[in-house]
Amino acid sequence: MVIGRVPWLVLLLLMLAVGLGVDHAGGLAAAGAETQPAEEAAPTEVAAVTTPALAGSIFKIELTHDEEPVDTDVLSFTEQTLNSAAWRDLGFPPPAYTTSGAGPVVNFEAVAQSDQEGTTTWKGAVLGDAIQGDMVWAKPGQEPLRYVFAGKREATLREATLYDRLGGLYGIASAIDYFVDRMYDDNTLMANDKVARTLADTPRAGVKFQFTAQFCQRAGGPQAYQGQSIAAACRGLNITQPQWDALVRRLQDTLDKFDIPAGEQAEVRAVVEGLRGDVVESAK
Ligand code: HEM
Repeated sequence: MVIGRVPWLVLLLLMLAVGLGVDHAGGLAAAGAETQPAEEAAPTEVAAVTTPALAGSIFKIELTHDEEPVDTDVLSFTEQTLNSAAWRDLGFPPPAYTTSGAGPVVNFEAVAQSDQEGTTTWKGAVLGDAIQGDMVWAKPGQEPLRYVFAGKREATLREATLYDRLGGLYGIASAIDYFVDRMYDDNTLMANDKVARTLADTPRAGVKFQFTAQFCQRAGGPQAYQGQSIAAACRGLNITQPQWDALVRRLQDTLDKFDIPAGEQAEVRAVVEGLRGDVVESAK
């Protein structure tokens, strides 16, 4: 087993201390830890810890049956599903999982169903890089088989930021290049004298650079925007709601032109809408 006996016991005590459900206690005991009920831990020690999400976590586990090692497996959690590499090969599609927990322990449960092979019910808990629990395989015509599993984290996949999903710096810079040109061409925006004069006096390449840096930073990219705040740059320009609506239309033209998927479009619109109060004179 990858996790040595002493840290395993420490892990177990910690899990019990933070309220790991009795549901999982069977799995823990069968995993080899002879336990005494742990003292109630002072709740203040863990109350401030946020329960972590499992999505993106990948664990290598070892399964035992009647305390005999039977198999190794890779368990990975996506946003919605729990994927078992070994059991998927046996015809169990990845099931949706639910989580519960307070503090650093995440309890999870999932039931996978296969037309031919019955159901596998996974119950487990994750604490940091350690995972453990049990899985019951129930199939018509056979006694339910109970496996105990334990293992450790192999990797955590970083969730792609909006910045990544828009194609990073080059994807965003290309879209803003197009967008800013559309702004300069927009009659409603240019009917605002202050906007028209300021844009005429400002090198367009610089405006594109600043918009790109600003948007990359807001979308989760590594760039650090270093210009003035948007409120300082744009609010003195007497921009009205109809002019803002014109900008949003130009934004929509750009999102469509670059075939940005609907989900990312909604996220981009939300980022920009969040700036309305910094731009439109009457919005605050
Ligand atoms: C109707 C909407 C908007 C109009 C007409 C507008 C117009 C302008 C103009 C004319 C400037 C040049 C200001 C100057 O050089 O003094 C400017 C600067 C800037 N705007 Fe806006 N803006 C609008 C909305 C936005 C939004 C939604 C963003 C968010 C990405 C934004 C980000 C910036 C940035 C980053 C600068 C550069 C500030 C600097 O160089 O320090 N603007 N804007």
